[in-house]
Amino acid sequence: MNTTNNTILITGGGSGIGLEIAKALSPANKIIIVGRTKEKLDAAAKGLENVFTIQADITDAADIDRLYEEIKTTFGSINILINNAGSAFVHNLANDEDIYSKAFTEFTTNYFAPIRLTDKFLPMLKQQNEAAIVNVSSIVGFVPGSHLPTYSDSKAALHSHTRLLRYELAKNTNIKVFELMPPLVATDFSAEIGGKENGIPASDVANDLVKAFQNDIYEVRVGNTGLLYDNFFAATEGAFATFNS
Ligand SMILES: NC(=O)c1ccc[n+]([C@@H]2O[C@H](COP(=O)([O-])OP(=O)(O)OC[C@H]3O[C@@H](n4cnc5c(N)ncnc54)[C@H](OP(=O)(O)O)[C@@H]3O)[C@@H](O)[C@H]2O)c1
Repeated sequence: MNTTNNTILITGGGSGIGLEIAKALSPANKIIIVGRTKEKLDAAAKGLENVFTIQADITDAADIDRLYEEIKTTFGSINILINNAGSAFVHNLANDEDIYSKAFTEFTTNYFAPIRLTDKFLPMLKQQNEAAIVNVSSIVGFVPGSHLPTYSDSKAALHSHTRLLRYELAKNTNIKVFELMPPLVATDFSAEIGGKENGIPASDVANDLVKAFQNDIYEVRVGNTGLLYDNFFAATEGAFATFNS
């Protein structure tokens, strides 16, 4: 995958991993960062060349329609869609209440929104000489974490969907489908579970995505994700127990 002269849409690009991806790929590419908070987007884009902002909530169908139209009018098209925005609740299946509403919110942001964005942009991506979709899942997408149970479910669903999307689009399109699987990363997102102290820098995740683009590596198992992945397939119960201890 070429890493220059693309037009890239990054959901959740106003902070954390999304912002580091924007930094790593600008100014050699045109980057559009999307989020719900205008001030956050403006602060993120300040000082970055070739980074543009559009305020939108990816769980809102009307916002996605407006986002698509604004991109068509202002930029013509995109050729890379990065589904990065996410939502998570730290909770416990045995002791907490209203698991349903947490799961619903997480699936709406982490699973249904990437599918809706893909639906919307797929015809545009098909028209490009080279295009990509990147879905940001997680280490817990294949080894579920007990403190993030329904978030793990949503990322497992996204992992499964991403594999099938890659398989189908490889048949007769130019669209490459990447899955970025970070371990614990030091962002606001993971502060409640010790990410600020124990997580890897978000810039490491961004750099691994750039390398994966350069080498066409489609499942990007960042840092400890690679180790856990290998352990999991060598001994699934052992890996599950170790991860959750
Ligand atoms: N941090 C970790 O340890 C870790 C580990 C594995 C995977 N991940 C995944 O990495 C991705 C990025 O997470 P991060 O750690 O970089 O978190 P972050 O710094 O909190 O960034 C998430 C961004 O998504 C935006 N966002 C959230 N909901 C949105 C919505 N409905 N519409 C539009 N934008 C929305 C947020 O901005 P607004 O609130 O302004 O909308 C925020 O800028 C997520 O998919 C997460 O699941 C994170």
